[in-house]
Amino acid sequence: MKPKKADQLQVEKLSTLIRTHSYKYHVLDEPEIEDSEYDVLFQELLSLEERFPELLSKSSPTQRVGSKPLSGFKKISHGSQMLSLDNAFSIKDLEDFDKRVKERLAIEEDVEYCCEPKLDGVAVNLFYKNGALDKAATRGDGTVGEDITHNIKTLPAVPLELLRNKEVTTIPTSLEVRGEVFIESSEFKKINKKLEEEAKKPFANPRNAAAGSLRQLDPKITASRPLKLFIHGYGGSDSPHEEIPNNQFEMLQLFKKWGLPINPETETVRGIKSCIEYFSKIESKRNALPYEIDGVVYKVNNFNLQQRMGKVTRAPRWAVARKFPAETGKTVINSISFQVGRLGSITPVADLEPVKVGGVTISNASLHNFDEIDRLDVREGDVVIIKRAGDVIPQVTKVDLKDSVKRKPKIKQPKTCPSCNGELFRDEGAAALRCLKGQECPAQLVEVIKHFVSRNAMNIDGLGDKIIRLFIEKKIIKSVSDLYKIKEEDIISLEGFGPKSSSNLIESIKTSKDTSLQRFIYALGIREVGEATALNLAINFNGIKRLMEVSKEDLIEINDIGPVAAGFIHDYFSDKNSIELVNELILLGLKLSPPQTDNSSKFSGKTIVITGSFTSFSRNELKEQLIVRGAKVTSSISTKTDFLISGEKPGSKLSKAEELNIKTLNEQEVIDLLN
Ligand code: IVH
Repeated sequence: MKPKKADQLQVEKLSTLIRTHSYKYHVLDEPEIEDSEYDVLFQELLSLEERFPELLSKSSPTQRVGSKPLSGFKKISHGSQMLSLDNAFSIKDLEDFDKRVKERLAIEEDVEYCCEPKLDGVAVNLFYKNGALDKAATRGDGTVGEDITHNIKTLPAVPLELLRNKEVTTIPTSLEVRGEVFIESSEFKKINKKLEEEAKKPFANPRNAAAGSLRQLDPKITASRPLKLFIHGYGGSDSPHEEIPNNQFEMLQLFKKWGLPINPETETVRGIKSCIEYFSKIESKRNALPYEIDGVVYKVNNFNLQQRMGKVTRAPRWAVARKFPAETGKTVINSISFQVGRLGSITPVADLEPVKVGGVTISNASLHNFDEIDRLDVREGDVVIIKRAGDVIPQVTKVDLKDSVKRKPKIKQPKTCPSCNGELFRDEGAAALRCLKGQECPAQLVEVIKHFVSRNAMNIDGLGDKIIRLFIEKKIIKSVSDLYKIKEEDIISLEGFGPKSSSNLIESIKTSKDTSLQRFIYALGIREVGEATALNLAINFNGIKRLMEVSKEDLIEINDIGPVAAGFIHDYFSDKNSIELVNELILLGLKLSPPQTDNSSKFSGKTIVITGSFTSFSRNELKEQLIVRGAKVTSSISTKTDFLISGEKPGSKLSKAEELNIKTLNEQEVIDLLN
């Protein structure tokens, strides 16, 4: 079939669009559309060019691998081309891929694939010479990348020297490995929070944060960002052939022995059915992974078979990326309202016409703050694009101006609190507005009580959001301390209550009186005081009375408590209302047992890092147990670390510890020592 004029125009239009977005993504680090939207454009162009080969031009975006390197960095040529990946969006696409593999190899038996999560980060190429890191480059256009050696050297996960140990006989005199630099989701949130506090522009997503942090002309900035790395590819070496494994999986294991971090989720499977199972497994784990992934990569495991299959212009024939379904959707904003948080911060929230995104119905999305509203220029009645990423609250990513006709006026910042009408203030340099009425503000009171009764705080069962609101509405509680004054007859006749449920609730409130000092401190909900800080305070002050009298200077003396947290703690205990509340709670019979510290423990005075997961306790529980025994628990391995406690799926910290000869303890050894 001959292409029509419309097909030709569509190919031109798509090519221009893809070029523009590719430039914004690769060169400017300012993507304007979602990856999934980009993929759709790319796939459409690919399929048009497949149908009408006469429309395929040499300069089509499908014929190149990436984009031009940034100026300002020296250029580095890759030893072998850094390829991209073809995408599969469905089981059918995956089955087609497997069929093509078998056809090309002229085999019928099941193929062995190496399955790896597809990390959403920045591709890098590392060059080692005689075992030492020599150069590092970004992917650039696949042939030439930017020299980011100085920046890469600041990543703790990157070994500057490959490990030589008893398991490794030789190290190639030259070696090229490819990997992905990324930022964990929690660290990403922290960076953005800080940028927002400094009134700077936040990053759009973790990949952007990683790219922005890596392509810094000043390595000090890179060093200050918690960048991580997983190696997922072999670029070549001058080792004799027999010393290099003949497949991807074993190559990765050898990388690990050399001290290069690899993704612990990597597995080999045989046959496409097992590939599909692997996809489901990773998909269900996706939210629990500490980093963002956008799919799974399947690679024919055997290097000889890979070689026999070869590549097309931009991607190998022996690999494919199965992407997760798009988690974006389009809908209308019915209204924009303002939520009041536990500490009074005002968050604008978009109330949406319900829309299904990635299988979940979304009916509201956070707009974060007024700077974000200005940035998006979002208004009531607008048609917007919604994104749901992992376990993150749904976000409005942009307004669809084409579909948003007859726009309403811009959203105005409220002058008073939507809950209590109190005056609103803006913290210096911060983006959020705040109501300072504390528990006098009904919305804040609900949140304060929710936090106070939560599982890791006072642990009062049966007091959910609805009941708390009901109690406040019925004036049964006006402050946290009123919880301990509730009598059965106050609630027995309320909707949803009966003799049994009311007596259960009274009982669980009573039981909560017997608690630990650290839980109580945490329950108070002081700004910047999480569970670990609460425990730290409890250990250092051993009684609530002492904590109430402590000076800011004494607080700063404590390990892990910085001047900001110290300020908030001191302010809290200098406030008349807080003092009254704490005193009243004590009078109402709360018993706060101080932490039992054990200085005879083997962990006393030691600096410990925890990695991986455990079967008998959570990482937080373990951390508490260690702090109680006088240990200092830190997050990264250094020469100061005494022990690494390593659970399942330990990640790169384990290799780093081995590199520095730091003693490692497994779960059983820790249990023995704790007991
Ligand atoms: S392999 C020859 N493996 O995805 C195969 N890539 O869309 C080339 N990526 O540029 C890449 N995780 O930056 C491979 N486990 C993984 C990956 C992965 C993420 C990135 C990589 C590549 C891009 C291709």
